Amino acid sequence: MDRLNDHALDVLFRKARTYSAWLPKPVPDALLSELYEVAKLGPTSANACLARFVFLRSAAAKERLRPALAAGNVAKTMASPVTVIIAYDLKFYDKLRQLFPHNPAMRDNFANNPQLIEQTARRNSTLQGAYLMLAARALGLDCGPMSGFDNARVDEEFFAAGKCEDCGEEFFPVGHVKSNFLCNIGYGDSAKLLPRNPRLDFSEACTLM
Ligand SMILES: Cc1cc2nc3c(=O)[nH]c(=O)nc-3n(C[C@H](O)[C@H](O)[C@H](O)COP(=O)(O)O)c2cc1C
Repeated sequence: MDRLNDHALDVLFRKARTYSAWLPKPVPDALLSELYEVAKLGPTSANACLARFVFLRSAAAKERLRPALAAGNVAKTMASPVTVIIAYDLKFYDKLRQLFPHNPAMRDNFANNPQLIEQTARRNSTLQGAYLMLAARALGLDCGPMSGFDNARVDEEFFAAGKCEDCGEEFFPVGHVKSNFLCNIGYGDSAKLLPRNPRLDFSEACTLM
């Protein structure tokens, strides 16, 4: 594999920032599809692909999210062209026959172990959220990730948590999809950025053994 050039590293990491202010430029649905097509290729445990992504673009959808947001996250979220709920499906193992066909035993390995399900779902949906952010940057978009919100409220509002099996929430099956974190997506207004905070040096965060 070739090493990426400096421009690519700048776009993905060195000059990429977390945005709270957005330019008035829409993000077309086709670009969100392209974003998913890139991000979905990032690796997950047993290729479980267990993250689920809810792209909130309309004002009505944003209003459903508003009551769950921490106060400091409301204005930036309402102003962004898109807010993604990065979630995970706790019944991800039911798709393993399709996604991991060479090892049918893998389904039952998860299905009988709730602790492993939970741990695997959280770990891999977090990773998939990170893949989504890097894919967004690679496609020229900017991101603003957020964990400041009430997960239980989001799960109730968008994933029918605690409701009956036949309540018919529009896309996600009842009760077994849970929110992990949120990410605003759009074209960031760099004029509104504060200077970047420092990161730990190699010697503070890493060791060579
Ligand atoms: C998982 C996650 C949760 C975050 N939650 C919030 C949040 O609730 N509100 C907020 O304003 N920023 C939030 N941030 C933004 C971080 O503070 C920001 O990414 C970090 O300071 C680095 O900023 P930089 O990318 O501009 O260097 C979150 C970031 C991540 C990755």
